[in-house]
Amino acid sequence: MSDTQTGGNKPSQQMATGDRAILPEGATTIPIYVMGKKYEVPETLTIMKAMEYAGFKFIRGAGCRGGICGACPTVYRKEGDYKLYFGLACQTVVEPNMYLTQIPFYPANRTMYDIEKIEPIPEAINVLYPELFRCVACNNCTKACPMGVEVMDFISALKQGDIGRAAELSFDCIQCGLCASRCMGELPQYHIAQLARRIYGKYLMPRAEHLKKRVEEIRAGKYDELLEDLTQMKREDLEKIYQEREREPDLAPPGTWIPEDTQYL
Ligand code: SF4
Ligand code: SF4
Ligand code: FES
Repeated sequence: MSDTQTGGNKPSQQMATGDRAILPEGATTIPIYVMGKKYEVPETLTIMKAMEYAGFKFIRGAGCRGGICGACPTVYRKEGDYKLYFGLACQTVVEPNMYLTQIPFYPANRTMYDIEKIEPIPEAINVLYPELFRCVACNNCTKACPMGVEVMDFISALKQGDIGRAAELSFDCIQCGLCASRCMGELPQYHIAQLARRIYGKYLMPRAEHLKKRVEEIRAGKYDELLEDLTQMKREDLEKIYQEREREPDLAPPGTWIPEDTQYL
């Protein structure tokens, strides 16, 4: 990030420009503090857009802008409130007198392994991440997670050897690193969970038989001719068959609907 507000084309405080948010008419501004410095920003913006409005440019610390990539973790306090808050800059709306800073990266131990050679047993995780057992169950990690992941619970599941439960509980993790920043036991929770999900996905999760059958059909060339025909079509014809395609009713109970034309099932 860099503070570029002093440039010749300084943006108006009343109207955002470029890819910044277009403010509603009469939008009022509120004070926020970014790394200790006060800025007046429109009250309707997310932290990320408010910082850009204030002149910061995200070169790192922003990715998807949609709450998925984990690049924009933010820590803040509110005036007169002892509590520490955590959020994603691209998702959290500014509040008056919030004091915030970005933590786009937090160092955490990540081990190297070859997933092809790992035995899918709890001990495999324990060997790669022995710090798992340094967890003191303080729950700071869960309180810090902007995705609402039950971080302490997936760590507990792994301590008990339940890889599947850990994989399930950590599914919404976006690898932002905030949990690691608060950990008394110095665990890299999100790297440990990623290993658990990899082991679960590769070795333990029940396989979908219909998917296996479909992959075999694709490999055997069942759809080659159809795909070739589609790629040769004119755009208008493609649009027409797309618009006229047979569609599953919105409220069809799962597994109850099949199309009239079953040749590609
Ligand atoms: S589990 Fe940790 S790394 Fe994952 S989203 Fe939550 S705080 Fe971020
Ligand atoms: S912050 Fe660390 S020590 Fe505390 S519960 Fe989470 S993993 Fe365990
Ligand atoms: S920019 Fe990707 S989560 Fe915020």
